[in-house]
Amino acid sequence: MNRVDAEAASVLQDKVLLVVGLGLIGGSVAASVRSASVCRKVLGYDANPLSRQRAPVLGVVDKSYDRLDVAVAEADIIMLAVPMLAMESVLDRLSGLDLTGKTLTDGGSCKGEFVAAARRALGDSCCNLVPGHPIAGSEQSGITAARDGLFRDHMVIVTPLPESETLHLQRVKALWQVCGARVLEMPVNRHDDVLAMTSHLPHLLAFSLVDTLAANPDNIDIFRYAAGGFRDFTRIAASDPTMWHDIFLSNKTAVLSALDAFSGDLERLRQAVAEDDTRHLLGVFSRARAARTHFSRILEHRAYIDNMSSSHPITWQAANGGPIQGELRVPGDKSISHRSIMMGSLAEGTTHVSGFLEGEDSLATLQAFRDMGVVIEGPHDGKVTIYGVGLHGLQPPPGDIYLGNAGTGMRLFSGLMAGQKFDTRLTGDESLSGRPMKRVTAPLKEMGAVISADEGETPPLAIEGGKPLQGIEYDMPMASAQVKSCLLLAGLYADGKTTVTEPAPTRDHTERMLQAFGCPVEVDGDRISVSTCEGLKACDIDVPADISSAAFFLVAASIVPGSDLRLMHVGINPTRDGVINILRQMGASITVENERMVGGEPVADLRVQAAPLHGIEIPQDQVPLAIDEFPVLFIAAACAEGKTVLRGAEELRVKESDRIQSMANGLQALGVETKVLPDGIEITGGSIGGGTVDSYGDHRIAMAFAVAALRAEGTINIHDCANVATSFPKFSDLANGVGFNIKTIGSEH
Ligand code: S3P
Repeated sequence: MNRVDAEAASVLQDKVLLVVGLGLIGGSVAASVRSASVCRKVLGYDANPLSRQRAPVLGVVDKSYDRLDVAVAEADIIMLAVPMLAMESVLDRLSGLDLTGKTLTDGGSCKGEFVAAARRALGDSCCNLVPGHPIAGSEQSGITAARDGLFRDHMVIVTPLPESETLHLQRVKALWQVCGARVLEMPVNRHDDVLAMTSHLPHLLAFSLVDTLAANPDNIDIFRYAAGGFRDFTRIAASDPTMWHDIFLSNKTAVLSALDAFSGDLERLRQAVAEDDTRHLLGVFSRARAARTHFSRILEHRAYIDNMSSSHPITWQAANGGPIQGELRVPGDKSISHRSIMMGSLAEGTTHVSGFLEGEDSLATLQAFRDMGVVIEGPHDGKVTIYGVGLHGLQPPPGDIYLGNAGTGMRLFSGLMAGQKFDTRLTGDESLSGRPMKRVTAPLKEMGAVISADEGETPPLAIEGGKPLQGIEYDMPMASAQVKSCLLLAGLYADGKTTVTEPAPTRDHTERMLQAFGCPVEVDGDRISVSTCEGLKACDIDVPADISSAAFFLVAASIVPGSDLRLMHVGINPTRDGVINILRQMGASITVENERMVGGEPVADLRVQAAPLHGIEIPQDQVPLAIDEFPVLFIAAACAEGKTVLRGAEELRVKESDRIQSMANGLQALGVETKVLPDGIEITGGSIGGGTVDSYGDHRIAMAFAVAALRAEGTINIHDCANVATSFPKFSDLANGVGFNIKTIGSEH
């Protein structure tokens, strides 16, 4: 028994449970509590003599009663599980009995009507009442369908009243917990609104569809040939008609408003079919498909909307492997993938993207534009089709824009949203919610944007729409492509010219892509400018493989003797190639083959062969050009002869984790000599031991230590690796295919 179960059992010890209404739900509660052997007795009452008689025979209750008052006198906890419209008469009968100290609850599907009936019958203060609703059931009904286990791993929503006493709340929660359910609390009204949409409306549609088809003169053929779709959609039309009749009448207001919204959307779809409105049809279908996939992922705890690292822990056991050999194409570039969705959405016309990174970060960006009304098909094997809405065509999203773990998403969206007519709120996961945003909010405010952040200028960011922006001249205090891109995007909507001056060159994908979409960008040394944009023109984008993901393999093949690996179609934009330059200076053997231009970005195949590495002082000009690759470069340093020194890299402290400290902690745990500096680190190469390290939920730290394991003397256990899916889904499979040795504990994406 786990701790929750043990606590629940102690709350119910010596108590007597009475279930009033021995149907599917009541019978299953009784059977589940009885089989958990926690209550002193489980009693039953039902108006139907047959149910009363069957319940003890089936082992559902210890004893059945034919008098409600006698049963109530014996009980400590009374659960009402009668049909919704019968609740009021049962409550009336209870009102004449002594309920002092007894807990009253129910298992009905609508809470508002039940609570109103309870107040009418029992008086305004119902301190012993705690309504509940199990989100479980079956198309079958009656005591014979009741079973222990019906609620196991299901949710139960309890809706305590303001006056419900803690003791009674504890008892009701415990009751459901011993049935194996997960208990959530919700206010009564919210429960009814949510259930109207997620349960009541779908049942109404299923009943209605089957009834319509059954009335068709060809119904025999329709039902005979109806395959999976019909079966799946209409399963719930076999549910208990009386129960559902009661539910619809009890939750009338919420059901009618859900039905009205749906009827409007259905009418619009009808019109789209009649008028061959391809865009509307594809829009509805692709949004629905994405949402459905997303729901499934939430249910499997795999969605970006979860905090993946805390809800779904993954540990890697990484060990020696190699040599690293073969040919490999790592997933698409994360920076370019984000931008391809942004510009494709804002363009006029249809943009086709190939090589798109199907990682959590870029998927969050894609979903955000869908939420703002952009029709986006895919991704299917890296292919995405975006039906652009033009610079001024975005619609207000239905809620917050959730950007997951992505700093790029948060900062680029902040610039873009500042130029829209509607308000937005940008949110992210725990790591993103701690990252500094003043670097974008301050210059955006200078442009006229109205933005507010959390205390400490961290997300969420609330951005007011409809504020006129003014072009500015901005001297960036740090080298950041995200800040530069944010301001250039805001600049598209600003009056006049927006100029950003960089202290050092940073990745220029925004500039290149804006040009490719027909928007002029002036580059004059370190000054980059855009002016009010007339409009972007759709174009096709081939996203190269991400050099930041390739970096893990560049280091892996360099440090494992006998390795010889080809990394295909890697983006080698000169603002991103620091990792190649630094590794070469350390003695690595990397050959750039087949150099070509693809969609405005330089691309090549990289051949890397094992070579002895030596420590270096990392040149300052290379730091911004290798900013994301330092975690794995530190592993190269740990395998190199002599000392490697990095300085001027304080930006690493505000990435997905404090990458200087995260790496230093891990390296020290593996016996590598390091000295942490405020803006960098010194690492003395030597041997790497086995041990346990934490990735701090940072994708690149996790992958860096998987590389370290190739040269370690023992196994390295790397905790908290789920976030690898933000930039490199299926990393371990791909890596194992070329000679890594990573075992995953917990399920991977
Ligand atoms: C990125 C810019 C860099 C980089 C990040 C992606 C981008 O961040 O670290 O992974 O796509 O513009 P900074 O702008 O904060 O340096």
